[in-house]
Amino acid sequence: MESINDDNSLYLFEADEEERARLNNQHVVLIHIIDNKILHAPINPSAITSVADVGTGTGIWLDAIAAHLDSISNDQAPQRQYVGLDITPAHFPAPHSLPDNFAYDVWNILSPVPEERKGKYDLVHIRLLAAAFVKGQVAVAVENLVQLLRPGGWIQWEELDGESWAGRVPSPHVREMSELGIKSMEAKGWEMHVPAAFVKAAEAHPSLQNVSETIYSTVKYGTKIRDEVNTTWLWSCTRSAKMILLASGQPNAEEEMHRLEQGAKRDIEEGGLFWDSDEHVLLAQKKW
Ligand SMILES: C[S@@+](CC[C@H](N)C(=O)[O-])C[C@H]1O[C@@H](n2cnc3c(N)ncnc32)[C@H](O)[C@@H]1O
Repeated sequence: MESINDDNSLYLFEADEEERARLNNQHVVLIHIIDNKILHAPINPSAITSVADVGTGTGIWLDAIAAHLDSISNDQAPQRQYVGLDITPAHFPAPHSLPDNFAYDVWNILSPVPEERKGKYDLVHIRLLAAAFVKGQVAVAVENLVQLLRPGGWIQWEELDGESWAGRVPSPHVREMSELGIKSMEAKGWEMHVPAAFVKAAEAHPSLQNVSETIYSTVKYGTKIRDEVNTTWLWSCTRSAKMILLASGQPNAEEEMHRLEQGAKRDIEEGGLFWDSDEHVLLAQKKW
């Protein structure tokens, strides 16, 4: 198992095969909840020639946007360029498997933007980086994203809110796990409300306009894939609780984790529960 090796990283999850599988399964569920949209209005797909995906993980969203843009492009358009950036290369696709117009590189969203990347992208995308920031750091990230963008380019950020994520599942075991998470987040000064922090920082940024937030609920959009939503969310919740418990050095951490995981599964199955939570789609455009 490989840990993420960056002193500035708060990020919790291990970079292992289980995490790779989790990210790829989660992608399908996350897209479904936001009404199967890869790109959100009013972003004009035909104006996009270069895309950066920050915190890209396995790059699965980058493949999806490339397929989407290719399906609507005309032959006259120049070949679009795609780059995936992440604090760890652990999940990057193998370099020999990449098309010429794809690249992956290591970058911490909180570090200065490399000169060669400034002003290069029409679309900068982020998804599920909520576990990466202490309070105040979302504004640093927003500043860096603005620097990546060309004038007229867009930020599209899909995110969950720390509290609402697990807060509306009526399972005592899920509640116990989420309380573990919330306690650990509070102890580290973690930003619990990344969507709200994004809106605040983007609205205050002099180079951004057309800031918006749309909230999609799993209950409204996810019921057709009820089992997948439950499984994916439980998997994430269990994995983060496990990391916290193991890191706490508690001697019976493994047993405690087993109790919580099995209890949550039982609550969900026997209670016929559905994981009610929100996915926020955040947009902002760099002024011309
Ligand atoms: C939950 S995963 C989401 C991956 C991908 N965006 C997706 O939706 O499939 C979060 C990703 O962010 C990366 N990450 C965490 N902290 C980061 C940081 N400070 N800068 C850049 N990437 C970071 C992790 O390594 C991980 O790949």
